[in-house]
Amino acid sequence: VGDLTAADLEGKRVLVRADLNVPLDDNQNITDDTRIRAAIPTIKYLLSNGAKVILTSHLGRPKGVTPKFSLAPLVPRLSELLGIEVKKAEDVIGPEVEKLVADLANGAVLLLENVRFYKEEEKNDPEFAKKLASLADLFVNDAFGTAHRAHASTEGVTKFLKPSVAGFLLQKELDYLDGAVSNPKRPFAAIVGGSKVSSKIGVIESLLEKCDILLLGGGMIFTFYKAQGLSVGSSLVEEDKLELATSLLAKAKAKGVSLLLPSDVIIADKFAPDANSQTVPASAIPDGWMGLDIGPDSVKTFNDALDTTQTIIWNGPMGVFEFDKFAVGTESIAKKLAELSKKGVTTIIGGGDSVAAVEKVGVADVMSHISTGGGASLELLEGKELPGVVALDEGVMTSKL
Ligand code: 3PG
Repeated sequence: VGDLTAADLEGKRVLVRADLNVPLDDNQNITDDTRIRAAIPTIKYLLSNGAKVILTSHLGRPKGVTPKFSLAPLVPRLSELLGIEVKKAEDVIGPEVEKLVADLANGAVLLLENVRFYKEEEKNDPEFAKKLASLADLFVNDAFGTAHRAHASTEGVTKFLKPSVAGFLLQKELDYLDGAVSNPKRPFAAIVGGSKVSSKIGVIESLLEKCDILLLGGGMIFTFYKAQGLSVGSSLVEEDKLELATSLLAKAKAKGVSLLLPSDVIIADKFAPDANSQTVPASAIPDGWMGLDIGPDSVKTFNDALDTTQTIIWNGPMGVFEFDKFAVGTESIAKKLAELSKKGVTTIIGGGDSVAAVEKVGVADVMSHISTGGGASLELLEGKELPGVVALDEGVMTSKL
């Protein structure tokens, strides 16, 4: 994916595609700045090497120019984290932007407006990509969270701007979610959760090829239980995935992967934070009750299995952790990973809800890697090629692992 550290940067105009798609509240305040913080090392490196940084990102999914999706609310936080005043363009391409770029000093940053204000972005329109490319001498893609999209600012632009290399964040995501997972220190455990098996089929199938231990949690387990003939009460089940669940269990066995399903679950009489709850063996879920978390015996079994490992990847919560009553399983796993990470086990949190869980428990800092990608990390874990990565130059930065 190209080597940023080999590039000559002094006085160069560098187009940096970051994923600054952060959540904003109704007053346009940033409610989670993780993605902005994650973009900083690459930008700082470029600035300290005398480059002129032209920063581009999308925010949300606007249909055309929509003020509430402007990148303007990001400027103060970016400026604060970089320690310089970031300038903001009102457009993405065009004469005004060109003028601002021409006036940009070495070591300065210009933030372009939301690149999705142009429908040409998602269409990967070559003319639009060419105009973006014409702003700079070099392209750095650091937008891991958007690397699964073949858009003009992630993929198209590389056809018109060379060198095209990965930023430090993108490289780190690849080092962990691809490198460490494909070539793990063993034993290697994968923990997969989430409500639906249908959204994790690709991840489970791909990880079954690589891991030694597979722990399953979350709503998806009830489809596996039902496939084994257990009664699941009114728990979530994907009836059309029963055969698939059976075949995944068989595949694990054939591959010699130790697949563990929770032996006990915490059940509720309704899907609500104040539901009545009780802990029962997985084989004894009464009618009218639904499983919303894994139980204490399962946590113990999972923890014991994790104690034997050297690498762990986690994707998807163990239960409905948004409800405190049903957050214990997910939080226990987060704590266990933090404990093992401190002992030198490689711990990788692969995007989305499991990241939120790790942050809720306050152990994000001790993990080896927390992905900034949702869809992108799922696709990478499924073994798919990411268009934004494939488009970059050949050659890699020295792995930081
Ligand atoms: C994300 O939040 O997953 C990325 O920023 C990609 O956003 P998208 O799903 O709107 O392309």
